[in-house]
Amino acid sequence: MEFDRTIIITGGAGFIGSHVVRLFVNKYPEYKIINLDKLTYAGNLANLKDVEDKPNYQFIKADICDYETIKEIISTNNVTGIIHLAAESHVDRSIVDPFTFARTNVMGTLSLLQAARVFWEPQGWAGRRFYHISTDEVYGALELTKPEGDPSAKECGGGPFGDDFFTESTKYQPHSPYSAAKASSDHFVRAYHDTYGMPTLVTNCSNNYGPFQFPEKLIPLFINNIRHRRPLPVYGKGENVRDWLYVEDHARAIDIIFHEGKIGETYNIGGFNEWKNIDLIKVLIKTTDRLLGRPEGSDDDLITFVTDRKGHDMRYAIDSTKLKEELGWEPSLQFEEGIEKTVKWYLEHQDWLDNVTSGDYMKYYEEMYK
Ligand code: NAD
Ligand code: TYD
Repeated sequence: MEFDRTIIITGGAGFIGSHVVRLFVNKYPEYKIINLDKLTYAGNLANLKDVEDKPNYQFIKADICDYETIKEIISTNNVTGIIHLAAESHVDRSIVDPFTFARTNVMGTLSLLQAARVFWEPQGWAGRRFYHISTDEVYGALELTKPEGDPSAKECGGGPFGDDFFTESTKYQPHSPYSAAKASSDHFVRAYHDTYGMPTLVTNCSNNYGPFQFPEKLIPLFINNIRHRRPLPVYGKGENVRDWLYVEDHARAIDIIFHEGKIGETYNIGGFNEWKNIDLIKVLIKTTDRLLGRPEGSDDDLITFVTDRKGHDMRYAIDSTKLKEELGWEPSLQFEEGIEKTVKWYLEHQDWLDNVTSGDYMKYYEEMYK
């Protein structure tokens, strides 16, 4: 079959990547979509069962750090676009094992950039795109200047927990090994634009939530624990603030920016949706209990305050005005609706959770792709 173009999506078997692959495979039958993923503990091909037989989808098991293999894949498939999501993504793991984060997030991104460059540069850059997906965590942390929260602050252009936001010109100040590695990879991408003229795009998004997120991250971990009446380990006093975006809204933004974003630009992606961890956790308990038919308040005592994460960033809050004004993107889902959908999904997919928490899914695919 002839395709208009071939795009590689790295990290397509992970949480956000699987939503991006699904959107592109379904929306663009004229594109061939290659999901390039190493299948680490966080990569799960079961996330893409519904698209794996589509004629425009192909999975390739590869490590982005393997420069020679990546070069070969790009040239033999005449790839013209790369959407790069593959990364080590969990802050707690980065605190324990920073080397793996530097290897994948920094060296892996560099290897991908260089492999694309050696293939694209001799042909000219026209029609090529290297789109790097990054995080708001590179900007460091904001202060909690309104610890009690002020819901009316939004009308005055501020956030409920502080008036400042991360914008595209906020100075990089990463604190965790995860965000330091992501920051470094962002710099390499911009360096390839500025030095070689590679057509690049970078986006920095806030915390995502939704189906298929590995249950080591707050929302799926806590939903699963509530269901099984296990303790909910809240770091510190639960006062840290995160800005939550439904994953499909992120995938939609990626689609728009890949096609219409201005080359060399950075766009922040977020939904102006800040929550203090402890308040969010109470919503999760209430929603999960209601959907399971348990009396309200019956699982509140699962909340267990534990030792804080080292270097725990206090507050993230993204200003995505540029994306709205220049490309017309806005989140489509209200948080209440997104949380309801998400809790329902995890409750209805206990098999998926059991599979990933037991590690069984890895044995299956290791056998298949060895
Ligand atoms: P994830 O951990 O769920 O998935 C990462 C994927 O990358 C997995 O499929 C894994 O197998 C693959 N991978 C890891 N190392 C690889 C390697 N060396 N070669 C090839 N593939 C490899 O991550 P996620 O939460 O979906 O995040 C995806 C991207 O979005 C990351 O770059 C992350 O920094 C960024 N991001 C995430 C969030 C969030 O809230 N999750 C927010 C903003 C930005
Ligand atoms: P997480 O989902 O790991 O995302 P990130 O660290 O990238 O923001 O954590 C979200 C917030 O929840 C963060 O402030 C840390 C906190 N947290 C807990 O309190 N307990 C937990 O078990 C986890 C995983 C996170």
